[in-house]
Amino acid sequence: MNPQHPELDTRAVHAGRADLTALGVHVPPIDLSSTYPLPDVESGGEAYDQMAGGGRRLEGQSAVYQRLWSPGVARFEEALAELEGGEAGIAFASGMATLSAVLLACVGAGTPHVVAVRPLYGGSDHLLATGLLGTRVTWADAGGVAAAIEPDTGLVVVETPANPTLDLVDLQDVVAAAGDVPVLVDNTFATPVLQRPLELGATLVLHSVTKFLAGHGDVLAGAVVTSEAWAQRIRPVRAVTGAVLHPLSAYLAHRGLQTLPLRVRAQQEGAQVLVRWLRGHPGVEQVFYPGSDGDPTRLIGRQMAGPGAVLAFDLGSYEAAAAVAGSCQLITHAVSLGGVDSLVQHPAALTHRPVADEAKPGAGILRLSVGLEAPEDLIADLDQALLEARLAPREMETASR
Ligand SMILES: Cc1ncc(COP(=O)(O)O)c(C=O)c1O
Repeated sequence: MNPQHPELDTRAVHAGRADLTALGVHVPPIDLSSTYPLPDVESGGEAYDQMAGGGRRLEGQSAVYQRLWSPGVARFEEALAELEGGEAGIAFASGMATLSAVLLACVGAGTPHVVAVRPLYGGSDHLLATGLLGTRVTWADAGGVAAAIEPDTGLVVVETPANPTLDLVDLQDVVAAAGDVPVLVDNTFATPVLQRPLELGATLVLHSVTKFLAGHGDVLAGAVVTSEAWAQRIRPVRAVTGAVLHPLSAYLAHRGLQTLPLRVRAQQEGAQVLVRWLRGHPGVEQVFYPGSDGDPTRLIGRQMAGPGAVLAFDLGSYEAAAAVAGSCQLITHAVSLGGVDSLVQHPAALTHRPVADEAKPGAGILRLSVGLEAPEDLIADLDQALLEARLAPREMETASR
């Protein structure tokens, strides 16, 4: 290891912890203060202006109020920014709160038009489609981004791999097509372990921290990593709208980063075993997994270090998919993804329910987030669920008993 440029695995363990030894502690202190003592009115007011105006807290300043600054949240932000290779991280109460703040920053700057590449997570699609925050959306495929840009376009939004069918988008192509318009990449599925969009020219990287980054199903959080200039536009939105991350959740998310590389790689290995098995199963019509189209543009290896730990499969009908989801015993039937335990869900009925019909995932598709369980146990569970749903021929039924 070069101590000046440690490997990602090393940074994941140590990021946001450089001052701990000097503090005389081994893990980050948890500071739950909702408010902070002010040395005097004047310096309190200056600190308020500094942070409400979008800056970081300066050395020695009071944090004033948790909605303006929280030391534990700032630690997590610093750690995530280091892993994504950005200047600043800004954390929020959820991934959706994060996207909302970025969109409001665009509206506030007089650039409310958004070009969005479908598919996106259903909640993001819904927020953009309704225009609730004052944005106006043009949907485009990756090849149509340049043509969709208008004089007041403030943002191009793209997700890759995309939720739920794991479509891949060439980020360098999108960045080139966007020209001067900043590109926001939802990197929730890939994580910085597999893909670092800022290195490919994106301006903002968004995470539902709820997923792989926190990783244990016990945190709801979001974050964006970007330049300090963009951070100074986004922090004031967080300060006034108030969707801040709780310091205890920030602690858990920060701890989650330490095992992120290990978890992502192990879960990815499990997913690859399951993909092979599902492809050979007669009840499964199609398996969706990054690179499963043969990866003609070689994005795996060039843009992504690996295909990740989420897959989807088509069982041909709503009834079959609902029956399999309902028959899993080890795999939990629940929305969300990226945790240490495997989750299965029906995107069209749940996570993508609010998406317009023309962009809704197929009725027979289930999304599976592969956890850290032994792949043979997951296969056994899916096998019995497919049998239960009568999606396996009679001879398989006998063989597997
Ligand atoms: C890709 C992606 N982006 C954003 C979100 C929204 O994040 P949150 O649920 O933390 O608000 C999700 C949630 O499922 C997601 O899967």
